[in-house]
Amino acid sequence: MPLVLTTYLHYLALAGLFAALAAELALFRPRTDGATARRLARVDALYGLSALVALGTGLLRVFAGDKTAAYYGANPLFHVKVTLFVVALLLSVYPTIQFLRRRRAAPGDAVAYPGRVAVLMRVQILVLLVIPLLAVLMSRGYGYGG
Ligand code: HEM
Repeated sequence: MPLVLTTYLHYLALAGLFAALAAELALFRPRTDGATARRLARVDALYGLSALVALGTGLLRVFAGDKTAAYYGANPLFHVKVTLFVVALLLSVYPTIQFLRRRRAAPGDAVAYPGRVAVLMRVQILVLLVIPLLAVLMSRGYGYGG
């Protein structure tokens, strides 16, 4: 895949991650109706797809980009970036399970979620906000020492 396309899709995926999380937070109420529960599950699928594209294009940039994998591997900022991404994905597991369980609710049903779902989504946003900072530092040569 041409690097321009990979780079574009990497940015698009990041937009998707933030857009999906923001939409989930705006839609989320611990007590809601089935129509909202179905919508939350659909938005969460967009989050999952964006995460896959971010990971796939990120790996393409590492292994088929303009620098070598060893170049990225030598930078601690890169390791922190990837670790934070994994942390964000782990934090998303519990909310995703809750959204999936309620995805077939009838529109008029009363639906309830554990309150910690909102907390986990907020923490995810905070974690994801740090990642672009690490990315821009890394791509401008910070973290290589000297
Ligand atoms: C495992 C997942 C990921 C991998 C392996 C990865 C890898 C990379 C690589 C290799 C670059 C190119 C750096 C360079 O210019 O040499 C890059 C750029 C970038 N990444 Fe990721 N990335 C991942 C996930 C993410 C996520 C989740 C975000 C944001 C939330 C993100 C934000 C960025 C940004 C903003 C750039 C552009 C930096 C710049 O050119 O100034 N990445 N990424």
